[in-house]
Order: sequence, then C-alpha cells, then structure tokens
Amino acid sequence: MSDSHRVLAVVFSDSGHTIASVAELVPMLERAGEEVRTEAVHAKGLWRRANPLAVVQRAFGALLERSGRIEAPVEDPAGYDLVILACPVWAGGIPAPVRGYLDRVRDRLPRLAFLITCGGEPGDMVDKLTAAAGQVPVAVVLIRNADERDGKDVDMLHAFAGEIEAALG
Ligand SMILES: Cc1cc2nc3c(=O)[nH]c(=O)nc-3n(C[C@H](O)[C@H](O)[C@H](O)COP(=O)(O)O)c2cc1C
Repeated sequence: MSDSHRVLAVVFSDSGHTIASVAELVPMLERAGEEVRTEAVHAKGLWRRANPLAVVQRAFGALLERSGRIEAPVEDPAGYDLVILACPVWAGGIPAPVRGYLDRVRDRLPRLAFLITCGGEPGDMVDKLTAAAGQVPVAVVLIRNADERDGKDVDMLHAFAGEIEAALG
C-alpha cells in the first residue's frame, strides 16, 4: 500500500447519478489507503426540477457558459493532493454551478481527475472541463446512465481509481 494522500471529491449532482458514482468510488480509494473527503457544490437560484422550465434553465446556463451562483465552498482544495471533479453533462457542456465553483477555486486546485456522468451524448465535455479547470486531468471516467443501469460502472470506477492511485504514486 502506498503512503496516504489527501483526496477531495467535489460533486455536483442534480438527479443523483453523479453522487451515486462518487459513493461507489470513495471506498475504493479508501481501501487503497487514501484519505477522502467529499464536498457537494450547492447551487443558488436553480429552479426545482419539478418546475417545467427547469430543464431549459439548466440547458441554457450550460450552453451560454454561465458561471452559476453557489454556496461558498467549505474545503480549500489547495490543502489536498488531488481533487476529483464530479458532475453531469448538461447540453453538451458544464453545469453553471460547476463553472461557478471553478471560478472560485481555479488558482487553488491541485492535480485533477474528472468523473463525468451523462445520458449518452457527452460531446466534448472533457475538453470543455479541461479548459474551464485550466489543467489536463490525470484520469477521466465518463459514465453513461446505461452503464449504471447495466452495472458496468463498477468496473469503470475501479479502473478510474487505479489511474488515480498511479498518479498519486
Ligand atoms: C438540463 C440537462 C441537460 C442534459 N444534457 C445532456 C447532454 O447534452 N448529453 C448527455 O449525454 N446527457 C445530458 N443530460 C443527462 C445527464 O447528464 C445525466 O442524466 C446525468 O447522469 C445526470 O447526473 P445527476 O443525476 O448527477 O444530475 C442532461 C440532463 C439535464 C438535466
């Protein structure tokens, strides 16, 4: 087992898929000896999903590359060896609250890994997230909702955890 590292999983999840993936991933990293904290990005001003216009609001926010208002993050990412940025694809792009998070912490980020969830059409989300974060991630996993349904996500998350472990050394 390698020396323990500090890992922060920063999660934005609207309908629960991304947080479920992170909940699977965290024990994998902990079994490898890492110390993992999870921080949720809390959006301000997002309409409830029951609102018929909520999908439009979310999609346009992402399409227009908006930086959404969020509650102040609790954890300082600079105190960690690696941050896992976990979020869904919205309209082929980055949810506004995730851009809001990145705008606040970009210059305090250590190495990054991306856990991205999507319905099946991720577009160039990895490139967009790389540009918004200002650095190339050490590992990426892209989980489609069908992967979760078919139980394929567990193997994908194991491989992702392995890549993170390799990068942490
Ligand atoms: C407003 C909105 C836009 C979306 N746009 C896309 C898209 O462009 N491509 C895609 O594959 N999935 C898209 N999805 C599906 C989500 O990425 C997918 O369901 C994801 O697993 C949701 O994660 P969450 O449950 O953590 O919020 C969209 C979902 C919403 C609500």
